[in-house]
Amino acid sequence: MTASRQVDYEIIEIYDLFNPGNPELGLLPGRKPSKLTRLVVMDHTVDEIFGERIRNYFSVNRLFVEYLTLPGGDENKTLDQVLRIARRLSEIGTHRVGTPPIAIGGGVLQDVVGMASSLYRRGIPYVRVPTTLLAQIDGSVSAKNGVNYEGFRNRLGTFAPPPRTLIDRSLIATLPERQIQSGLGEALKMALIKDPVLFELLEEHGPQLVADRLQDSDNGNDAGPGREVMHRAISGMAEELQKNLWETDLRRIVDYGHTFSPVIEMQALPALLHGEVVAMDCVLSAVLALHRGMLTPAQFERIVNTTRGMGLAPSHPMFADPSVLRRALADTMRHRDNQQHLTLLQGIGRTIFVNDLTDTELDCAAQVMTELLETDESGVLSLQGGC
Ligand SMILES: NC(=O)c1ccc[n+]([C@@H]2O[C@H](COP(=O)([O-])OP(=O)(O)OC[C@H]3O[C@@H](n4cnc5c(N)ncnc54)[C@H](O)[C@@H]3O)[C@@H](O)[C@H]2O)c1
Ligand SMILES: [Zn+2]
Repeated sequence: MTASRQVDYEIIEIYDLFNPGNPELGLLPGRKPSKLTRLVVMDHTVDEIFGERIRNYFSVNRLFVEYLTLPGGDENKTLDQVLRIARRLSEIGTHRVGTPPIAIGGGVLQDVVGMASSLYRRGIPYVRVPTTLLAQIDGSVSAKNGVNYEGFRNRLGTFAPPPRTLIDRSLIATLPERQIQSGLGEALKMALIKDPVLFELLEEHGPQLVADRLQDSDNGNDAGPGREVMHRAISGMAEELQKNLWETDLRRIVDYGHTFSPVIEMQALPALLHGEVVAMDCVLSAVLALHRGMLTPAQFERIVNTTRGMGLAPSHPMFADPSVLRRALADTMRHRDNQQHLTLLQGIGRTIFVNDLTDTELDCAAQVMTELLETDESGVLSLQGGC
């Protein structure tokens, strides 16, 4: 027997989502009107900043909703939070299809609401409203959710693409600078693997993107670098996922920056943010490509300078420790069916997969990562790490 299922996604880039005159937030997938009670889940910070506007929106539009507020932050990406959501879904009598919950928050909140929705009644639809840069350009398009478990990232999770995602770039204007920088770590990944134009935008406008929080100071009607970066990152991700939504092919270029980082991120939690560790993994993988002659020293230096220009550190002591890198690769290989399937750059914007990375290559790369810890923009790197 074979069966197939079509997945319909609405990913809508929109402005002024919480304006009561804008119908989008209240609509069901397929833009149908909502008549029954739905759960709105927010993270604490979102509730503090936007809670009043959100409550006003549903009240003015006479839509029936109940609220649940949960803490953000990766240390709260737990099964307990999933069960809290399931309990509220049950209490308010959530239906199988007609009353999809709405998740308004960062990537952590999106992941726990997505997972609760995928488990409740064996799966109900839900609506995503991502409110961090990282969640808007990366998680927003993804079919995945999950929680951290037994010290491992996303060890429990499901595939459950939401039928409706609403992306309002103005919502990230309230993010702390560090969260914008972390989100740009995922944009850097996308730029390096497939979009040289995106890379040039990050290279040229990095500090401004952070300072303006991608707002382009223009009420959303522009074609400035903020809008362009967001649009290119989202469409690049969507293009990649559409080809391999259920990850039946374990070779994924969007896993660039996500080979060594998962173990390191969990070990460093909560000191480093997701996008910060992803950016360091991008740089480490660029060192590996450099040593194989697939990147020129000039290209490598552009990558490091662009990373720094966005306020992201290219290295960390854990990325300079070969034993940590080996352990991280070994764990990721279990996730890739015991293959490395390591994405390496062949120039900026092109990739190949390799399965023959050696411990010696990792040792040499770790030495360059040590040098990167010690040098700033003016410092001269040996680039060979003495190898
Ligand atoms: N499912 C996927 O495919 C996917 C993809 C990428 C990332 N993720 C996950 O996303 C998580 C990281 O997401 P994140 O970086 O959004 O972290 P997060 O959800 O913890 O949000 C970061 C912080 O920003 C606060 N916040 C949220 N919106 C805000 C706003 N508009 N203004 C001010 N503060 C706001 C949150 O309360 C939190 O304190 C990781 O767990 C990662 O695994 C999942
Ligand atoms: Zn990521």
